[in-house]
Amino acid sequence: MNTDAREQTVNLGAGPSMLPTDVLLEASQGIIDYEGTGIGVTELSHRSSTFKNLLTQAENDLRALLDIPSDYAVLFLQGGGTEQFSATLLNMLAAHAAKHQGQGGAPPVDYVVSGAWSSKAYKEACRLYGPVRQVVDMRKNIRDASQPIPAPSAWNLSSVDENPAMLYYCDNETIDGSEFPQDFIHQLPEEYRQRVPIVADCSSNILSRPIDIRTHAVVYFGAQKNIGPSGVTIVVVRRDLVVDPDAVHTSYFPRIPTTLVYKNAVDNGSLYNTPPIFPIYVSGLVFKKLRKEGGVTRAQELAQAKSKLVYDMLEQHPSVFQANVAHAHFRSKMNLTFRILDANTGEPSDAEEARFVKLCEEHKVVQVKGHRSVGGIRLSLYNALTLEMAQKVVSLMQQFVKA
Ligand SMILES: Cc1ncc(COP(=O)(O)O)c(C=O)c1O
Repeated sequence: MNTDAREQTVNLGAGPSMLPTDVLLEASQGIIDYEGTGIGVTELSHRSSTFKNLLTQAENDLRALLDIPSDYAVLFLQGGGTEQFSATLLNMLAAHAAKHQGQGGAPPVDYVVSGAWSSKAYKEACRLYGPVRQVVDMRKNIRDASQPIPAPSAWNLSSVDENPAMLYYCDNETIDGSEFPQDFIHQLPEEYRQRVPIVADCSSNILSRPIDIRTHAVVYFGAQKNIGPSGVTIVVVRRDLVVDPDAVHTSYFPRIPTTLVYKNAVDNGSLYNTPPIFPIYVSGLVFKKLRKEGGVTRAQELAQAKSKLVYDMLEQHPSVFQANVAHAHFRSKMNLTFRILDANTGEPSDAEEARFVKLCEEHKVVQVKGHRSVGGIRLSLYNALTLEMAQKVVSLMQQFVKA
């Protein structure tokens, strides 16, 4: 297979994003003939033992990579991160109702808003349910160095006596380019952290640094950044929170569509209905490769090294570049967002950014434009991007500065 053009290209897209070439080559063979079965992987029955073995292996490798304890289920679902905006809420409300026997009325649910994706999740919760509390909105603080970012101890959390059904946050904001410091959730008040189920959207930074699964009730992530093709969304959920929503009767939340009910997925080993076979297969190959190449520890070292190259450039040239995230300890190691300034006015300049995009494209560095809602530049340095590729990007930034 000819990979020449691919090898000359650096794809910095935010997702779907680049995948390792060796994985794709193996997958291209698997599409034609999966491990000598004479059947391509996308033609396998999801009820076949061949597919079930593939799924089990993918789950076991992911468990090893993320140190997922046995009292957590791992689900391979469809619907994307967007579907989890509602699924997490509805399943946690059901778990709450089962625990409290529907007593005490509709519980509050707490949302941390730190960027575009957590804001979307919060809005979806407001569409579906009444007592939704935005405990903090740190979007402005993140962009403004003069405004400190409120620590978890300062968030306007529901009282534990109100028995909140969950706290929701997004660990890495793909559009804004911000990422929570790693110990942020550990800074929540002890009693709150012990009693309130914590839900994390880790779609754009999973497997790039360790995450303490045990602190969470649910950790979920779409595949299409650090894992595999779009189409599979992985949900890691504490088993004691997996309940039958039809067995609890309350007036304050609706019946949950069957494909959103975690219990259906758990009881059927993620095979309640036809799963996204190809994305699961490729994700499994990525897990296997990552385990072989040093796991999350190595991925984290690489993510730190790659992002440091870019952030150092921004710091060294403040008259040319301006990081969107003003607070250095909040800057994402996956999605690095910045503006390019006009030399005369010192203001962000669409024209300068267009010049930079053009320079990148001339050197086959592609998909560097920021999300349409924020503009500017976004460099997504996911796990599949090598250190050498990051160095090429930084040398283009250097060239741009000189010009
Ligand atoms: C952090 C985060 N959450 C959720 C989503 C939504 O994922 P999907 O488009 O698969 O529904 C995205 C998409 O990029 C994302 O980056």
